[in-house]
Amino acid sequence: MDCDALFTNVHLACMAGPDIVDGAIAVRAGRIAWLGPRAQAPAATVVHDGGGRWLTPGLIDCHTHIVYAGSRADEFEARLNGASYEDIARAGGGIMATVRATRSASAHELLRQSLPRVAALLAEGVTTLEIKSGYGLDLASEIKLLGAARRVGQLMPVEVVTTFLGAHALPPEFAGRADDYIDMLCRDMLPAVAQAGLADAVDAFCERIGFSAAQAERVFAAARALGLPVKLHAEQLSDQGGAALVARFKGLSADHLEHLGAAGIAAMAAAGTVAVLLPGAYYFLRDTQPPPVAALRQVGVPMALATDCNPGTSPLTSILLAMNMACTLWRLTPREALAGCTVHAARALGRHATTGSLEVGKRADFALWDIARPADLAYAMGLNPCRMVVNAGVPREPVVSLPDQY
Ligand code: NIG
Ligand code: FE
Repeated sequence: MDCDALFTNVHLACMAGPDIVDGAIAVRAGRIAWLGPRAQAPAATVVHDGGGRWLTPGLIDCHTHIVYAGSRADEFEARLNGASYEDIARAGGGIMATVRATRSASAHELLRQSLPRVAALLAEGVTTLEIKSGYGLDLASEIKLLGAARRVGQLMPVEVVTTFLGAHALPPEFAGRADDYIDMLCRDMLPAVAQAGLADAVDAFCERIGFSAAQAERVFAAARALGLPVKLHAEQLSDQGGAALVARFKGLSADHLEHLGAAGIAAMAAAGTVAVLLPGAYYFLRDTQPPPVAALRQVGVPMALATDCNPGTSPLTSILLAMNMACTLWRLTPREALAGCTVHAARALGRHATTGSLEVGKRADFALWDIARPADLAYAMGLNPCRMVVNAGVPREPVVSLPDQY
């Protein structure tokens, strides 16, 4: 068997089956062709010596709102002075502040502001990135944002997965008419976005300051009718029954979940819906109600982890810090944190057949780390031990430069 490339003299944290110490991994046509003990490695055209470092699957940030314009540092200051996230949202700030900035930015300007954030994630070994819309809230602006998100995947070495989050907040044009907005979203926006091929999944914000479970359900029905999988911002600030709802639609994931109760946990377990935990938002909002990690673990709900990168609740562009926070704040094990950013994150995106673990046939997405053991990834804060990233078999430096025109 001849391979295109062999990455040898590495320890493999496969995240599917046991680790392989002193291993090697071979690539053909962008996919993993073989992996095993170094001594048994096949011949390859190009050989990369990993220097005895650890190789993991490329990391997957499965929940971000990373494409947006503007800053909300003013709200950060207001919250430090006692205002709550919900107070700010009700006063017309919050998500709406970012909607105003995003609507008035050109697609080029949106990318100019967003690409440095993407580059920060890529430097930490991220090879797959989910990007949500939801700061446009009218058809043209949502299409602009999703188009910019797709463009990120062309400009940068990362696989981008897009999610339509039109039901993120009620735009001012529909003030007091949330059901009319949901009607319009299901009738006009969603089909147009789907038709343009701009969404891989559909999400909603089910919350007192977002949309009701009944409204989210209508969005889900419309999404499923178009063949799109669903996920939900659920039980972040209160228990709205969102996890059970998304499980009923065989959703990919329920995300946040600080206020998740027993019924939601049972429904997720039965449906195979992934719990996406977002410690950056919990930390940044100074939340005190942790998600029910022990209960999720006990019934075997897969737990993914993500940055939730967004300007209001989680201006976080470090997936490694998200791993540390999940361990420190919620007692995930470092191994669970790594699984949360690899194999379970892939499942939360419906991409587990192609990425998320080191297995023959999967895309050759790797990160090479200068660490003594995998737990070091979740242990250190602010150190980036990434030494090489491989996207579909193509090696690159962790630090990527921004495209010229940006
Ligand atoms: O995931 N909760 C809703 N969406 C984001 C926050 C968006 C914002 O405040 O801009 C979140 O936390
Ligand atoms: Fe979010």
